[in-house]
Amino acid sequence: MRDRVLTWLADNVPASRLQHILGVEQMSVELANHYHLDVEKAAQAGLMHDLAKYFKPNLLLQMARNEGIEVDPVCEATPHLLHADVSAIVARDEFGVRDEAVLEAIALHTLGRPGMSDLSCVVFIADTLEPGRGETPELEALRQVSFSNLYKALWLTCDYSLRYLLDSHCSIHPRTISTRNWALSKSSQKTRPVNRPTDTVVVS
Ligand SMILES: [Fe+2]
Ligand SMILES: [Fe+2]
Repeated sequence: MRDRVLTWLADNVPASRLQHILGVEQMSVELANHYHLDVEKAAQAGLMHDLAKYFKPNLLLQMARNEGIEVDPVCEATPHLLHADVSAIVARDEFGVRDEAVLEAIALHTLGRPGMSDLSCVVFIADTLEPGRGETPELEALRQVSFSNLYKALWLTCDYSLRYLLDSHCSIHPRTISTRNWALSKSSQKTRPVNRPTDTVVVS
């Protein structure tokens, strides 16, 4: 299937985006390996996460509505946000992906969702932190965190994206904030030692 997806991508996304996609595929595989998740599913979701990245706004809206996906006011104003949901539709209809975990990871790679699976966290993080995104000290630090605490990396990746959106005067989807808050609470649960008094807990 990988070759078929790559052929399709060559016709539907520019070469620079293909590089990003391959970077997400690779980092998703590395993170999945590290966290003992299904590597094959991580590779599939990484490879297909941006299938609809270059679909026109009207097509994104139409495909999302046909699928019964709720198009809220923020997505209505910024249909590009729907490319994650629509990429999952393309993965299913064009490439026959039926695995719900893979489809969820694709659909949630932009906004996330509280309660998202670890596989979805991996693809979300890889989308922002794959090597092609740059080598700033902030990104390098986030990459290190991504291999030590998955939820902390998700929380800080959301913060990184939120800062970018604020600086760029872009709309912020409420789900980015609820994903961030969920990841923040999960990251402290995950690192809290069982028999330690709360006041001495260090959140790493
Ligand atoms: Fe994307
Ligand atoms: Fe992406």
